[in-house]
Amino acid sequence: ARKAADGVRIPDPAGPGAYGQGRRQPMRQDLARAAELAKAAEDHARERQHPKGKLTARERLDLLFDSGTFQEIGRFAGGNIGHDVPGAAVVTGFGEVWGRKVAVYAQDFSVKGGSMGVAEGDKICHLMDMAIELKVPIVAIVDSGGARIQEGVAALTQYGRIFRKTCEASGLVPQISLILGPCAGGAVYCPALTDIIIMTRENSYMFVTGPDVVKASTGERISMEELGGGYVHNATSGVAHYLGEDEPDAIDYARTVLAYLPENSDSLPPVYAYGAGHAEDVAARRIGTIVPQNDRQPYDVVDVIRCIVDYGELVQVQELFAPSAVVGFACVAGQPVGIVADQPCQLAGSLDVDSSEKVARFVRMCDAFNLPVITLVDVPGYKPGSDQEHAGIIRRGAKVIYAYANAQVPLITVILRKAFGGAYIVLGSKAIGADFNFAWPNSQIAVLGAQGAVNIIHRKELRKAREQGPEAEERLRSELVAQYEAETVNANLSLETGQIDAMIDPEQTRDVIIRSLSVLRGKQRRRPTTRHHGNQPL
Ligand code: HXC
Repeated sequence: ARKAADGVRIPDPAGPGAYGQGRRQPMRQDLARAAELAKAAEDHARERQHPKGKLTARERLDLLFDSGTFQEIGRFAGGNIGHDVPGAAVVTGFGEVWGRKVAVYAQDFSVKGGSMGVAEGDKICHLMDMAIELKVPIVAIVDSGGARIQEGVAALTQYGRIFRKTCEASGLVPQISLILGPCAGGAVYCPALTDIIIMTRENSYMFVTGPDVVKASTGERISMEELGGGYVHNATSGVAHYLGEDEPDAIDYARTVLAYLPENSDSLPPVYAYGAGHAEDVAARRIGTIVPQNDRQPYDVVDVIRCIVDYGELVQVQELFAPSAVVGFACVAGQPVGIVADQPCQLAGSLDVDSSEKVARFVRMCDAFNLPVITLVDVPGYKPGSDQEHAGIIRRGAKVIYAYANAQVPLITVILRKAFGGAYIVLGSKAIGADFNFAWPNSQIAVLGAQGAVNIIHRKELRKAREQGPEAEERLRSELVAQYEAETVNANLSLETGQIDAMIDPEQTRDVIIRSLSVLRGKQRRRPTTRHHGNQPL
């Protein structure tokens, strides 16, 4: 060893010392020991998970990230290497998805049932802090028995910290939750606060109180599957946004969603190369044939969407829930957009409590992450009935207005066939704040449909006609309906008042959207006002 001028000992790389031969041996041993411990843990995880048809936390990460990009944080944190305890019940780190950085925490059910103790909470919070600082998306893979019972309130506290951090990250970076095992009790609110929840058909459960508690307190007997399985949360409660056939399918959906989103609220979504070709011409010719002239005849609006977007690819969000509205991600000329559309083959495309919340939440997500929203309208109005009124269509429908009125991304709306009443105004009309509105020829835009309108405004004449018999009344009604349809139920007034910018040929729809997006590129956000925040209807 040599001595520096100030007398500090400099280790000789070739000789014994901190960096020399003498240290190299124990370091190799440490490495070997660590590798051995990690391998034993993974063998154990496979033994526990595979018989249940589940992957291990690390196998899931292999599927999530581009090959070889995962960098773990605190592999042995929370463990006791001397006593063969390889670490906490959660794996944390960063990797790349489509070449972009993403943070992940994956609960490891093979370690104490993936339960949340102090060490796990610390690891997750540290990861979330880093992700917020780096402004990158966070993916949570949930597979856990909940708060670690042995650690008591100290474990519960960690949930509180994670809730807070999830709220801090909300709208700042995309947050996606994959539920690939149990997620019970208050722990469900970790995923509930994120943007997208993905479940699988089997082995995926979310409930605030499990079947045993339900039975004890209400007498109801219900299985985990029926209470909070993947299908129930996709089709009935609307808690989840996608139902994966299996784990690889669920993870693939997470990767797909990330492909449409920017890394954070300050950046724009990635733009993809798109070579226009023959397919657009074919789709453009087809689009006009999909929507029947008869406004009572249903059709599948997804067919229309596929004719407008690149490669006909639409990635639906909440496909199984509130099917009278369709929402999802797509690209137009390589640019990611959010699509919102009424679905006339379900409840005639009417807005109900569930579809209102589905649309509102999706528009909010698009606005948070700089995705323009394209709205395709063919709506007869709100779904009538006491069930809807009592379920809060006023309160829950208000969310659609709040979402569109506050959205600051480019908003482009096309009326395909009909747009009646309040539903017309709230679904991306210019009055609510959209940048451009277009209508297809023969669009019906009015306060009410002809039948309803005639019954109200000509009530007295119809009553008088009834005195001459029901045929006379019907004859008059038909005349008045035809007259109202010809004079009032069209796009003329909206065109004259500038609420519709142009009537377009269906074949031009894609081109008009592309041109509008180009005009709106660089649309600036409004400056924040001095209020704390709006009081959003919830
Ligand atoms: C400590 C737990 C645990 C927990 C499971 N384990 N949950 N250890 N705390 N919460 C352990 C088990 O003891 C077992 O350890 C191993 O994990 C695997 O569990 P199994 O029961 O064998 O697995 P399985 O049969 O698949 O059943 C899974 C389960 C069940 C349904 C999740 O484990 C279960 O009911 N766990 C308790 C759920 C619960 O009540 N959690 C608290 C919820 S309240 P060994 O050593 O035998 O392998 C909550 C509040 C959050 O989380 C608060 C937020 C504000």
